[in-house]
Amino acid sequence: MRTRLIAGNWKMHKTATEAVEFVHEFRKVVPTSTNIDILLAPPFTSLYAVQQAMTTDDRFALAAQNLHWETEGPFTGEISGAMLQALGCSSVIVGHSERRQLFRESNEEVNKKVKAALEHQLLPIVCIGETLEEREAGHTQAIVKDQLIKGLSGLDAEKISAITIAYEPIWAIGTGRAATIEQAEEIHAFLRSIVTAEWGPVAQDVRIVYGGSVSPQNAEALFHCTDIDGALVGKACLDPTSFASICNLAAQASP
Ligand code: PGA
Repeated sequence: MRTRLIAGNWKMHKTATEAVEFVHEFRKVVPTSTNIDILLAPPFTSLYAVQQAMTTDDRFALAAQNLHWETEGPFTGEISGAMLQALGCSSVIVGHSERRQLFRESNEEVNKKVKAALEHQLLPIVCIGETLEEREAGHTQAIVKDQLIKGLSGLDAEKISAITIAYEPIWAIGTGRAATIEQAEEIHAFLRSIVTAEWGPVAQDVRIVYGGSVSPQNAEALFHCTDIDGALVGKACLDPTSFASICNLAAQASP
């Protein structure tokens, strides 16, 4: 049985001081139930502050938004998996479409980052998704399959079980135009069939979460879909109350 995951991707928002204020507020409203996993992914500069502010609260855990594949070395401006692990991160987002599009991150780099994350006991959340042009041209399945196979290349079934896949159609990110339930369900089921074909029954353990304009208004319907195992939330995670209400909806929809 897959535990639903709700991850808040703060992107480039909040100073360390603002991050601590968020955690204090969020702790007042975050669900007490233990039937879902909740992650906060602040910018690198706030990871330590958030980790300290969480104290021993185990209702949510810490994630990073990116990592470099090397452990250390002359890579100015980069952060390694070892550094994130030492800070108390349990997960890391890899291959977000903003990184792929704005920073030219390739499937091959995503693959190196996934492997580096696993080496440092960081559970990777691997983002894939198509552009509007690709969808309109009927290429969605081909694009996400290519990203999935290349991004997870070389991993055995045991490692695959630790992966979360985030299906994030690029046209739905930050636009207020979420995918319809039918669109999301179709691709989630398709992705699980690809994982089954490539890695076998372990596909039943792999979480596939949806991202792209998830809000307290549309989250409930998503969480009632069989193949949607949670959400990667951007804009709506910046406010503690709205993020907590998405978490609550996931907890209520979970056994
Ligand atoms: P959004 O972002 O919820 O603001 O659309 C989601 C994401 O980019 O992960």
